[in-house]
Amino acid sequence: MVNLLDPLIIKGLKLKNRLVMPPIGTDLATNKGEVTEKHLSSYEPRARGMGLVIVEHTYVDFGGRFTATQLGIHNDSLIPGLKKLVEVIHVSGAAAAIQLNHSGGKCVESVCGMQSVGPSSIKYWKEPTRGLDISEINDLVHKFGDGAARAVVAGFDAVEIHAAHGFLLNEFTSPLTNKRTDLYGGSLENRFRFALEVIREVRSRVGDNFPLLFRLGADDFTSGGLTITESKKIAPFIVEEGIDIMDISSGICGIYHPTNKKPGFFVQMAEEIKNVISAPVIGVGGITTVELANRFVCEEKVDLVAIGRALMKDPEWGVKAMKALK
Ligand SMILES: Cc1cc2nc3c(=O)[nH]c(=O)nc-3n(C[C@H](O)[C@H](O)[C@H](O)COP(=O)(O)O)c2cc1C
Repeated sequence: MVNLLDPLIIKGLKLKNRLVMPPIGTDLATNKGEVTEKHLSSYEPRARGMGLVIVEHTYVDFGGRFTATQLGIHNDSLIPGLKKLVEVIHVSGAAAAIQLNHSGGKCVESVCGMQSVGPSSIKYWKEPTRGLDISEINDLVHKFGDGAARAVVAGFDAVEIHAAHGFLLNEFTSPLTNKRTDLYGGSLENRFRFALEVIREVRSRVGDNFPLLFRLGADDFTSGGLTITESKKIAPFIVEEGIDIMDISSGICGIYHPTNKKPGFFVQMAEEIKNVISAPVIGVGGITTVELANRFVCEEKVDLVAIGRALMKDPEWGVKAMKALK
């Protein structure tokens, strides 16, 4: 029987166990998006004990910057700092992935330097958003690719594409924010077109043997929004496009389940996705004990378990968990 301490090998990358640090925005970057010493000292202890660390969301384009101190991956000058971050995570014994993002309609002009952009011209968050035209979508697809290429140069072992939590790709996948009538709106296939193009572009830039993760906001939990039924239909196509690990979270409402507060609140959804794809799946949501994390893996509900806030609260969570299980 598989358990939390078992390694997992993805495209030749060996994760020493099934524990994942999920992306957690720390707002510790300089206002140019650079890695700081504070990042290094935050990730170093937390990476110990974990099989995989997914570094927090980074902006692939300045127009997609969420906060003034968000980590960036939008230009080459950021690579030396990112290299240091990878080294720290590796020295702590974990594999290092980084999350690529564009914050879309959740951006504000004072931070991203322009009117926020999204699938449609609506007011979805704090400020009215302008709908992207097709040439701009193509440009952003390339910018995700550029970000991924920089991650490879910086030494990351994997890249995660962010399509959850109401950010740009999720705004396209959700009918609540995507009101387009062209090839990028309407049907499920059309709403996922942008995300699938990003996967294809990223894959073409990192090569066939580089592990790619996809964070899917699998359900909007809002009437008229994306549903788990739709996500189950699209998940096999996401994997087919070149995704090696699916990371299941919720959609437009944010990062928590609106009604289920029980530890493991997104695990059932992750299990539903696992049942329709061949790639490993990460489960997350309010998990604080190693016993529960181990149970989810032993019962094969998910393949990997992410521990976010508990690890932020106790940087030694992973080390203690490994000891307890051994
Ligand atoms: C302060 C904070 C920042 C977060 N930043 C990100 C992020 O950058 N990218 C992302 O996909 N999720 C982000 N999340 C969501 C977490 O990755 C995780 O899915 C969520 O906290 C639920 O897991 P937990 O209950 O173990 O914390 C963030 C969560 C918190 C609390």
